[in-house]
Amino acid sequence: MAARQREIGLFAAPGLVFATFRVVEPRGPGIHRSHSGAARDPQTEQAREGNSGRKEVSVKRKPVKPLLQALAGAVQRLHLRSYEIYQPVLTSSGYTAGARDCEVRWAAIAPVLEAAGALSLVDLGCSEGYYVLRAARAGLRFCIGIDFDQRRIFTCTNQLVLNDFQNAGFAMAPVDETLLEGLPKFDAVIFLSVLHHMMYQNGIDYAARILQLVAARTAKVCLFEMGQADEHKESWATRMPDMGSDPHRWIADFALANGFARVEKIAAAASFAGETERALFACYP
Ligand SMILES: C[S@@+](CC[C@H](N)C(=O)[O-])C[C@H]1O[C@@H](n2cnc3c(N)ncnc32)[C@H](O)[C@@H]1O
Repeated sequence: MAARQREIGLFAAPGLVFATFRVVEPRGPGIHRSHSGAARDPQTEQAREGNSGRKEVSVKRKPVKPLLQALAGAVQRLHLRSYEIYQPVLTSSGYTAGARDCEVRWAAIAPVLEAAGALSLVDLGCSEGYYVLRAARAGLRFCIGIDFDQRRIFTCTNQLVLNDFQNAGFAMAPVDETLLEGLPKFDAVIFLSVLHHMMYQNGIDYAARILQLVAARTAKVCLFEMGQADEHKESWATRMPDMGSDPHRWIADFALANGFARVEKIAAAASFAGETERALFACYP
């Protein structure tokens, strides 16, 4: 008890006030959060939100020390001011807004992961790790995000520490042929809004090879989206291939020609600049 009182004292130290919270999210697309503001039980973290059918396991873990959490929270607040975040980030007071809405896409992705029975997931170009953390919370057993941007990977790992996320991790690396050749297969691959950068920088043949390698690493389903030639507000749009009058059809055909046997459009979400909608596809090997 004495040790616990000391922890609470640190917790309330001036300038280091930090409230822990628990996010409760159902497995489906709806999003419900509950922020208790109470400190975690220092003895036991119960794995209560597992996949249905998963044996509930009581995991004894030492909690992250409140002082460390407070410092990580302060560093996170400074760090998030240093660049424009693409995805919402989980902080001690809930999600920040990101430059791009992610919940619409998650609402379409979550049921696909569930229907596929995905247990493992890799997010290529994971940005701030939003989908990795959502998938881990939804009960997938092993979720990893990869991005080459040091600032974003810092944001990802910082959220892990602050929120005691389990079953999730991050690696800093360029997504390229070398990396993809070294990856094992994952049940689910998330590959969102990255391929167009490769296409206008390295050409359509390079992008095709990358997509073939992504398909080869997909055991069950790949959630795929890319920037489109009709995004006229983007300086790169003129360097994209002509996608004709139906860019969504063009992209589906591109995926079918490069390793996927079945491609289904599952949603359309506002593009980064908002002038059109990017299609989101579930691609099956
Ligand atoms: C436009 S954002 C998309 C983020 C996220 N996939 C989404 O749709 O919400 C592109 C992300 O991919 C990363 N990225 C772009 N090219 C990459 C590459 N070749 N290797 C690793 N990461 C890359 C960027 O750092 C950035 O985080």
